[in-house]
Amino acid sequence: MKEITYNSIFILLFLIIFGCKKENNKQDISGKMENVHTSDYGITPKGDSIKKYTLTNKNGMKIEVINFGGIITSLTAPDRNGKYEDVVLGFTKPEGYFEGNPYYFGALIGRYGNRIANAKFSLEGKTFEIDKNDGPNSLHGGKEGFHTRFWNIEVVKDAKFPTLKLSYTSADGEEGYPGKLTTTVFYTLTDDNALEISYEAETDKPTVVNLTQHSYFNLSGNFTKTITDHELQINADHFLPVNETLIPTGEQKAVKGTPFDFTVSKSIGKEINADDDQLKKGKGYDHNWILNGKGLRSIAKVYHPETGRIMEVFTDEPGVQFYSGNFLDGKFDTKTGGKNEFRTGFCLETQHFPDSPNQSSFPSTELKPGQKYQSKTIYKFSVKK
Ligand code: GLA
Repeated sequence: MKEITYNSIFILLFLIIFGCKKENNKQDISGKMENVHTSDYGITPKGDSIKKYTLTNKNGMKIEVINFGGIITSLTAPDRNGKYEDVVLGFTKPEGYFEGNPYYFGALIGRYGNRIANAKFSLEGKTFEIDKNDGPNSLHGGKEGFHTRFWNIEVVKDAKFPTLKLSYTSADGEEGYPGKLTTTVFYTLTDDNALEISYEAETDKPTVVNLTQHSYFNLSGNFTKTITDHELQINADHFLPVNETLIPTGEQKAVKGTPFDFTVSKSIGKEINADDDQLKKGKGYDHNWILNGKGLRSIAKVYHPETGRIMEVFTDEPGVQFYSGNFLDGKFDTKTGGKNEFRTGFCLETQHFPDSPNQSSFPSTELKPGQKYQSKTIYKFSVKK
């Protein structure tokens, strides 16, 4: 009898110790596997397969990224009732992304985000002709910019939060730009519902760099609704007026007394149709705001009254392109039914100013060998009860 009892205690202890150990292992492994999940996404017309990476944080917020264009295909955020919904525009089918993506939905933009006048610039006495893909100008790095390239993606092991490391090497002369540019971008989803984006780049010849992210947001979670009811605040006292082809004229104009004054939060739609020459040129808002302050700081806040969703943007860049989706033209289906109509998404693209390589009064976008390009932007989601 005694022996049976000793044996049972021994077996019981063994089971408890072994069982606990197994449980710990299970937690470690499943934790890592669950916060970044990899799956097949689609196949390009050339037969290359595309992978999708799904990042999940402890609250259940999810971000989906593909290795084509470093594109964010989905990003969920909670409303005031705790309901997580996708708040970024995108296509319903993978083909949408690699058959043109005329809107640059969700993409990483490089080597130069925004426009360069007449698709040329000079560096150290040499003139470079780059791809002319937007009337007389070059837009977002050219037709085959970084948004059309395959990025190598690694899941960063032992990172505090789910993190992807995306790398792309742009050859010397690609789209007309000088220098081989090695680019690394980190996407991190933190537990306070923020997407942190860190950009790094190095070159072997003098070149120009201006990297950004082109996600379109619609905080209603319904992509058939316009974004004119969203309330926006931008910490900028000045903006850059543009000419007919959306190139800054060089003037740094005070926002005070103009529809471009977002220093105090107001709805995007409040003055978007005002009789204003700059709004006519942009077909709405499609301008760069000169951000107040320096270093990583809060630069903009968007609030959607109906759902309570808030998005706050932080960056260390000097400018932000606030674009009110004026070129969305209803040609494609949205992820929530209907078509991608006029002004159903907005972008806040953090960056250096457009056409900086041709405008000596703007902060420089030149990168020389031995220097490291570094920049950071955060999109943080919360709610107002
Ligand atoms: C940027 C530009 C816009 C437009 C979109 C893409 O935001 O500023 O003018 O070209 O990209 O459609």
